[in-house]
Amino acid sequence: MTVLWLLLFLIGGAFTVDVKIVQLGDSYSSGVGAVATRHEYDTVIPECWRSLHGRGGQYAEHLLVANNNNYNVTYVNGACSGAKSHDLLNANLVSQKWGLCPLQRKRNTAEVFYNRTRFKLKCNKYAVPQINYVDPATDLVLLTIGGNDALFSRLLSTCILGISIREARKCLEILEEARTTQVNYTETIKEALVEIWYKMGESGKIVVFQYPHLIQNYSRIWNDPRSGISIDGPQLVREFTEEGNHAYLVAAKELNTAMGVEFLTIYDKTMDIFAGHEPDPRKHSRNDDRWISEFERPIGSVYHPNQRGHSEWGAAVALQCVFGVNLF
Ligand SMILES: *[C@@H]1O[C@H](CO)[C@@H](O)[C@H](O)[C@H]1NC(C)=O
Ligand SMILES: *[C@@H]1O[C@H](CO)[C@@H](O)[C@H](O)[C@H]1NC(C)=O
Ligand SMILES: *[C@@H]1O[C@H](CO)[C@@H](O)[C@H](O)[C@H]1NC(C)=O
Ligand SMILES: *[C@@H]1O[C@H](CO)[C@@H](O)[C@H](O)[C@H]1NC(C)=O
Repeated sequence: MTVLWLLLFLIGGAFTVDVKIVQLGDSYSSGVGAVATRHEYDTVIPECWRSLHGRGGQYAEHLLVANNNNYNVTYVNGACSGAKSHDLLNANLVSQKWGLCPLQRKRNTAEVFYNRTRFKLKCNKYAVPQINYVDPATDLVLLTIGGNDALFSRLLSTCILGISIREARKCLEILEEARTTQVNYTETIKEALVEIWYKMGESGKIVVFQYPHLIQNYSRIWNDPRSGISIDGPQLVREFTEEGNHAYLVAAKELNTAMGVEFLTIYDKTMDIFAGHEPDPRKHSRNDDRWISEFERPIGSVYHPNQRGHSEWGAAVALQCVFGVNLF
């Protein structure tokens, strides 16, 4: 055996190690914002906006060329834009074609007329439970999750974008709702991570990435003249993001202790990497060096890492870690 290994080593000069990485989670993981146009995303479930060039794909690329190309890296993207904690173990409704489909779920199709032609639409389209992408050959699972449970898009529209004049009060209400539900969805995430780990086997490793700040460290006051409430939206959201990020650390400590194995790592450098590269909340100000998109194309990538963001994030992760995956 030893002789054979030595022989192989001498002849080949190198041997490869298989590494299977599975990407799960929400839009910050599927790769929203990572490519320039809509058609560059994976077309199997277009609603998920999966790209091979997001943070996870970039990390896999770096690993591929690391160590004299000795890692044979397989990267599978099962993340989905809009995914919540529940979708890690359950089928995820990705499309309802709102406005066209009947509310009752029984009828799963709707008919539309377009260009004098009748089309049948499938109303309710599901992505499989994300855990289905994981198997015993999986060495590493990467994900971001919890942002949609924490009402990401509503916080964005009310606390940061301040679309209507009465958003100040609404922002406070949504923050309160998000904080109230946090205990619940954190439990859902914890249960799911343990299930995922069981499916990988004991040597499996899971990395949950903390989120970046959505907005630069400046103030912007929103006034609600009716109620007399005024808030500093950006700072409220920053505080809340930090609380959320901290909750992952607490959860990981608890789970690793409970399992007796350090299977779960929280990647806690995300905020540092993006610091100063978030959009500028001040009136008439713009951060030209932002790695988080505002309203540029592709549409739908609003407040997600842009191409630069994904590549810097992936490169930084690759420089720092292999997350204890047993590569040899
Ligand atoms: C790389 O991994 C894939 C998937 O496990 C496998 O099919 C392939 O043969 C491997 N390639 C090498 C060069 O080991
Ligand atoms: C509408 O249908 C006609 C005939 O079937 C076709 O030639 C035309 O390209 C269609 N237009 C659009 C916008 O799909
Ligand atoms: C949290 O979960 C419990 C038990 O399932 C449920 O009764 C409660 O309503 C949930 N709370 C929130 C705020 O969703
Ligand atoms: C944000 O800005 C405030 C006020 O300038 C400063 O005290 C604080 O340290 C900054 N926080 C970060 C994370 O840079």
